[in-house]
Amino acid sequence: MDERPFTTHAEDVQPRLGRPTAVDTPVVIEARNLDLAFADNHVLRDISFRVREGESLAIVGPSGVGKSTILKIILRLLVPNAGQILIDGEDINQLSFEEVLEVRQKMGMVFQASALFDSLSVFENVAFPLREHMRLPESEVVQRAGNALNLVDMTLEEFGDRLPAELSGGQKKRVGIARGIVHEPKILLYDEPTTGLDPLTGRTIVRLIKRLQAELEVTSVVVSHDVRAVLETATHIAMLRDSRIIFYGPPEEFVEADDPYIREFID
Ligand SMILES: Nc1ncnc2c1ncn2[C@@H]1O[C@H](COP(=O)(O)OP(=O)(O)OP(=O)(O)O)[C@@H](O)[C@H]1O
Ligand SMILES: [Mg+2]
Repeated sequence: MDERPFTTHAEDVQPRLGRPTAVDTPVVIEARNLDLAFADNHVLRDISFRVREGESLAIVGPSGVGKSTILKIILRLLVPNAGQILIDGEDINQLSFEEVLEVRQKMGMVFQASALFDSLSVFENVAFPLREHMRLPESEVVQRAGNALNLVDMTLEEFGDRLPAELSGGQKKRVGIARGIVHEPKILLYDEPTTGLDPLTGRTIVRLIKRLQAELEVTSVVVSHDVRAVLETATHIAMLRDSRIIFYGPPEEFVEADDPYIREFID
């Protein structure tokens, strides 16, 4: 456990954190004044937020605003032009290639379009992070992949040998989630986990995300257009518009906000 004393720095009680988790709860992900441009497309300006252990930050905003880009910066697939991203207090942009791989082991990523490897079976897709990050005996790989599939209500017996092309959209999403959680990361990043699914399958995925938050006590960042999914899974919401965060706070403040832009998103 973290033994740091209870602190009341002004920055720990600023209102934009909404009703914060106890201020002595460790900050797992912190963005400090991120700025990123692709050529003359200035995507992110002065983006700052903190996600404490066990919290779930939802990032919302229009298409092309930079939501997936923020996830890529957290994964250090992209490096910002200015600003820092800290994972467990460590500025990941300063790390060597090997050190980055170590930090990435703490993270599981569920990609926008499932992004399964088409030529690999469901089993090999789910086992991929285990093979990438750990040296485990094959029996344990099988066991862990089976457990991860069970968490998304699938089994190795039924689905393990199938190829992604032989799955429905919702099943692909679930396999993508199983792959994201198989190495039991402390941080889970989801990009549009419910987009493109029928409402019922979307509900199943939302319940699953909530269950993972409760059972694995992960810290998560969820990018989504799905208002219900956001309101049900987030402890905090960040809304992006024109490269900046225009709202940051808990869902109950978000639904009360009278910013017309937020109203439009909610309605
Ligand atoms: N590798 C890249 N090179 C150049 N431009 C990029 C790159 N990746 C993203 N962009 C641009 O950056 C902007 C933000 O992209 P991003 O994928 O983060 O948007 P998004 O908010 O996730 O959108 P969506 O909701 O449609 O997924 C877009 O204008 C996009 O075209
Ligand atoms: Mg995106």
